[in-house]
Amino acid sequence: MSRIPIIAGNWKMNMTSLQAIELVNGIRYGLKFPGNVDVVVAPTFLCLKEIANLLKDSYIGIAAQNLHWKSDGAFTGEVSGPFLKDAGAEYVIIGHSERRQYFGETDESINLKIKSALQAGLIPIFCIGETLEERESNLVESVLRNQILTAMDGLAPSEVEDLVVAYEPVWAIGTGKTALPEQVEETHAFIRSVIMSQFGNVAEKIRIQYGGSVKPSNSKELLSLPNVDGALIGGASLKASDFIQIIASII
Ligand code: PGA
Repeated sequence: MSRIPIIAGNWKMNMTSLQAIELVNGIRYGLKFPGNVDVVVAPTFLCLKEIANLLKDSYIGIAAQNLHWKSDGAFTGEVSGPFLKDAGAEYVIIGHSERRQYFGETDESINLKIKSALQAGLIPIFCIGETLEERESNLVESVLRNQILTAMDGLAPSEVEDLVVAYEPVWAIGTGKTALPEQVEETHAFIRSVIMSQFGNVAEKIRIQYGGSVKPSNSKELLSLPNVDGALIGGASLKASDFIQIIASII
């Protein structure tokens, strides 16, 4: 089963409009023909529309970093799927570990967000991953199984097919520590098997990204693993040359 890899840059709370414009221009003119790979950037809400307009005829797609699960209403400070779609987003990152850790997101609220993203025609980039403590207590499989089954509860296989799953061990995010390639492959295969047991063969179509300190020096090895279908990149996505090198390592 050939899956088109997807490389996504999660800018987090970085990049003013001007910096963002400079960065995406650096990417699109620095790498003109990305080949058989989907490339996505996730700006802040504030410059998402501007960046989406700028990239309209380019190969770079746009993701939001979060959404609310209701489509509209009295939810001060929140942004929903239909607004993101209207602004030009095609994807939305859901359940990033920073949102789980600092903003109280749970697998239950993530489940609502995934459903509402799909409803709005956005492709969820659904993040899962264990903490260091959970890894050291041998809980990786049970934690991931629980995250997947709760957050994907009630989805139809046809909806699951569109999902992108991002496996990001929490201890590897922004720390410079990457999981070993054999750990990554084993975990990705496990994730696919859990999705397979719940939703059937559609699991073969789902793209599973790895995330956590991916950089030009380790991307080739990680991205060549059979069950790794791309990467979700934080720090290294803020520099056009690093991001391009990571994309180039999969082409
Ligand atoms: P990092 O972040 O590449 O800086 O480790 C990854 C992420 O949080 O998605």
